[in-house]
Amino acid sequence: MKIGVVGKGGVGKTTVSALIARTLQQRGRRVLAVDTDSNPNLGFSLGLDFDEIEAVPTVPRSIVVGTRGDLTVEEVMADYGVPTPAGVTLMSALRVDEAGAGCTCGGHATVRSLLGQTLDAEVDDTIIDMEAGIEHLSRSGGTLAHADVLVVVMEASRKAVITAQRTIGLARELGIGAWVGVANKIEADQGDLLRRLCTEHGVPLDIVIPAEPAVVTADRLGAPLGDGVAPEVWSAINALVDRLSTAATRF
Ligand SMILES: Nc1ncnc2c1ncn2[C@@H]1O[C@H](COP(=O)(O)OP(=O)(O)OP(=O)(O)O)[C@@H](O)[C@H]1O
Ligand SMILES: [Mg+2]
Repeated sequence: MKIGVVGKGGVGKTTVSALIARTLQQRGRRVLAVDTDSNPNLGFSLGLDFDEIEAVPTVPRSIVVGTRGDLTVEEVMADYGVPTPAGVTLMSALRVDEAGAGCTCGGHATVRSLLGQTLDAEVDDTIIDMEAGIEHLSRSGGTLAHADVLVVVMEASRKAVITAQRTIGLARELGIGAWVGVANKIEADQGDLLRRLCTEHGVPLDIVIPAEPAVVTADRLGAPLGDGVAPEVWSAINALVDRLSTAATRF
């Protein structure tokens, strides 16, 4: 599966990406997690420390991946895939190291070309932790055009649900096959508001991940997301992973 994790800024894309990646890895899958944040931090959630994250090489911008391109899938994996303590291979694609270095469009094109390849020889599942917003769906060709399924993350706010609504509209236009609506960091008293917002904006609500103090603590410390996370969160993530494989019928 090629899974794009998208949504408004701060809704929990990186958290959800890491939890999906760990769950798939624990089910015996070979998982590649691609961090497309210009300020990457998925590595923390997968167990790397600051120095190790700093040492992760960034995939060069504007290269075409494929046997007739600049690098083959095998070469990209060997040169830019970094093992993590979570057992997931991490790749950093859009990191910005230099002030005034220009836009990241070339990096988006690279990610698009990687996703367009058959990755089966190297990985079973690829998770793209996407930068915030919806521009990645409108960039030339659409960074996630070759994704099999989008995980559309939202929190219990109208702005987050509207972003999900817009995302789904663009995904449809791009021809992405399927998507799953995921509400994250939901407090016990937010259920009614969330359902109302999703109904008003036509956004199906497939999975609800509760607010979890251990996620906040891990984030503050730059610590991995793992054992301390409550069973309710893992249940929701397991349900999400089950759902991903059947989501292809959504459109
Ligand atoms: N289930 C949860 N319960 C409580 N807090 C959460 C949960 N998921 C994420 N958070 C918190 O929300 C904040 C944003 O999470 P995260 O970095 O995963 O979001 P993001 O969508 O990747 O953000 P960005 O748009 O900046 O990339 C963090 O402080 C994180 O600890
Ligand atoms: Mg993030």
